[in-house]
Amino acid sequence: MNRVKTGLLGLDQITDGFPAGRTVLVTGDAGSGKTIFGLQFAKSCSEQNLKTVYITTEEDYEDLKRQSDSFGWKIEEYKKNGILNFIELAGLRARVTEAEMSIGVEAMKGNFAKILQDMPEDTQVAVIDSLGSHTAKLTAYEFRDRIDLLIYELKQRGITALVILDSATSSEFNELALFSVYGAIRLMKRENPYTGRRERVMDIVKMRSTKTPIQFLTYEIDENGLEIISEVE
Ligand SMILES: Nc1ncnc2c1ncn2[C@@H]1O[C@H](COP(=O)(O)OP(=O)(O)OP(=O)(O)O)[C@@H](O)[C@H]1O
Ligand SMILES: [Mg+2]
Repeated sequence: MNRVKTGLLGLDQITDGFPAGRTVLVTGDAGSGKTIFGLQFAKSCSEQNLKTVYITTEEDYEDLKRQSDSFGWKIEEYKKNGILNFIELAGLRARVTEAEMSIGVEAMKGNFAKILQDMPEDTQVAVIDSLGSHTAKLTAYEFRDRIDLLIYELKQRGITALVILDSATSSEFNELALFSVYGAIRLMKRENPYTGRRERVMDIVKMRSTKTPIQFLTYEIDENGLEIISEVE
C-alpha cells in the first residue's frame, strides 16, 4: 500500500505514513493540537506534490495562515502554486441551523458528503477541520450514516483524508466514527504517572494494514509544530 508522509517525523518512522486513498480520523480535546496536526499534514502533502484541499469549518484562512506562520510554514506559497487550496465553510453552522429550522433535519441528510462537492476533481488529499460543526440534532445512526457516506465518497475518489472531530462530539455519538475509518488517532493531555507532570500524548487507536504501537506517544507543540518525543523503536 502506498503511504503519504504525515510530516510528523516520529509518527512517519513508526507507521511509514498514512495509507494512501484512505481516511484517518483525528480526535482530541480543545487545544490538543488537531488543527496544527491538520496544517502540518497539509504542508507535508504539499511538499510531496500532492494536490491538497484544506476544508475549514471554524477558522478562516487568515487564522490558519497566522498559525502556520508561527511555525514558519509557507502555506501562502503552496496556495499560490495551486498545490494547496482552502475551502472556508466558516459560517456554515449558522446557515445549517437556519436551514434546519425552516426545512427540518431530514433534508440535511448526507450533508457531510456535500462538503466534498466544492473540491477540485483532481484533489489527492483532503483535510476536514472539523466535522463537529455539522452534527447538531443528529441521532447516532444518522451520524454514523453520514460519516460512512463521506468516507465512502472519499475512497471512491481515491483521496487520502485526515478528518478532524472534537472529542466531545465523538463521545456524544458513542465514538461510532472510530469504526468507520481506516485509521484513528486520539490526542490527549494526561498526568504522567511517574513524574506527576502533565504531558500531551497521542494514542494510535487503530491503523489498518499497519503495525502500530500500543503505548501512548508523547508529543509536544513547539516551534516546529507537533513533535513526537517518545523513544521510537
Ligand atoms: N507557535 C506555537 N508554539 C507552541 N505552541 C503553540 C503554538 N501555536 C499554538 N500552540 C499551542 O497549540 C494549541 C492549539 O492547537 P490547535 O489549535 O491545533 O488545537 P485544536 O485541537 O485544533 O483546538 P480546537 O478544538 O479549539 O480547534 C494552543 O492552545 C497552544 O497551546
Ligand atoms: Mg482546531
